[in-house]
Amino acid sequence: MRARPLTLLITAGPTVEDLDPVRFISNRATGKLGFAAARAAFAAGCRVILVHGPVADELVRSLPRSNALRRVPVRSCAEMHRAVLAALPKTDVVVMSAAVADFTPAKVSAVKIKKARAGLLIRLKPTVDILKHLGALKRKRRKPLALIGFALETGAGRSAAQKLRARFAEARRKLESKNLDAIVLDTPAAMGAERAVFHVLRAGSKKTETLRASKEDMARRLVRLSFELNRRPKKSGARA
Ligand code: CTP
Repeated sequence: MRARPLTLLITAGPTVEDLDPVRFISNRATGKLGFAAARAAFAAGCRVILVHGPVADELVRSLPRSNALRRVPVRSCAEMHRAVLAALPKTDVVVMSAAVADFTPAKVSAVKIKKARAGLLIRLKPTVDILKHLGALKRKRRKPLALIGFALETGAGRSAAQKLRARFAEARRKLESKNLDAIVLDTPAAMGAERAVFHVLRAGSKKTETLRASKEDMARRLVRLSFELNRRPKKSGARA
């Protein structure tokens, strides 16, 4: 009997939180790693659901056209949350590489906000932590679900060593508090870059793996990690 292909739900790119019809709050994420992971997962024979925020057309064109790769474009954290929950029943592994906004405007103005001499105060409210929600759902679910998160950390401290320790401590804290199976630690320098330094931390293990890698290589590592976490052999009929 042929094994059912592994289904990866990958999130990528930034989210965009609208302030008024022309302005928004977002971040510098480009979606390169998440899209590379989608291509690598497809090449390895997986089914892929790619939920992504606004990204360059070129990235969208880089995807193979196939029923095995479904692309769900979204804009805000709330939209991404809905799309992720809708895709969850079919999902074996989530790779949450999107840079999701932590805050969204408390009120979206239906008209363009006018210039004011006294300045402008924008009230923000927290968004849902999508990954934390998935971590809670994982506890209740019968079918196994593996969660791979990301931690983008600058680290506090005077020396480089202190900063690195703080970044690892923060990644470990996110790994545990969000009930993840693995977390990839990187820095803002990775945003938009072709290559970066990534550290992979896994639940229940003190060991970490460091990769100085291109996003294509890191994407392939994410796919291997997905198979490892799902404890099933990679399909022999891989597409590449
Ligand atoms: N994440 C999420 N939903 C959010 C914010 C973050 O699912 N509203 C996910 C990201 O996709 C990432 C992980 O949580 O996989 C960690 O994101 P990060 O921005 O590093 O950390 P936060 O938990 O948002 O905490 P902080 O910004 O305070 O460091």
